[in-house]
Amino acid sequence: METLIPAVAIQKRVAEMGAQITADYPADEPLLLAGVLKGAWVFLADLARAIQRPVIIDFLHTSSYGEGKTSSGEAKLIRDLDTSIEGIHVLLVEDIVDTGITLDYLLRILNERKPRSLSIATFLDKPSRRRRPVPIRYTGFEAPDRFVVGYGLDFAGSYRNLPDLCALAEEEGQQTE
Ligand code: IMP
Ligand code: MG
Repeated sequence: METLIPAVAIQKRVAEMGAQITADYPADEPLLLAGVLKGAWVFLADLARAIQRPVIIDFLHTSSYGEGKTSSGEAKLIRDLDTSIEGIHVLLVEDIVDTGITLDYLLRILNERKPRSLSIATFLDKPSRRRRPVPIRYTGFEAPDRFVVGYGLDFAGSYRNLPDLCALAEEEGQQTE
């Protein structure tokens, strides 16, 4: 296990992102932070508390990766938002944009509900693996083309609670797909 981004650097960057989001959205218009489960929960918890204005928090859950490290090439909605988003600002909060398949899918289905605006905040961007173009408004860090874990990101359900962002060594996980 190799540390790529230590927790202190993550906290500094998330604080900057929160300040930027606070400045960008009119304070008197509702803002919904929509976290993509499961990976985004740690980032969402920190980002929400770095935003100095009222927000509504909701979650949706997609599946795409199963137990392995390789995308199935499709996204599926497992759990929808509880909140109606018509006419309100929505910020989708994601752990990592990898192939772009998940967010491309979510943007399409959520845009049909006519939100006032729909943007993406991602902790990590891994542009080397992109298969669908995705417009990202807020990016924490660019990720190398390696499988990363920690700060909410998992391998086969483990490592989400690591405070640092880490890379698994090749022998630490078998490719299952
Ligand atoms: P997509 O390929 O952009 O659809 O990414 C979908 C999801 O795959 C992300 O939200 C993550 O949960 C997961 N994912 C992609 N790359 C990694 C990684 O390096 N580590 C852990 N999870 C990943
Ligand atoms: Mg995810």
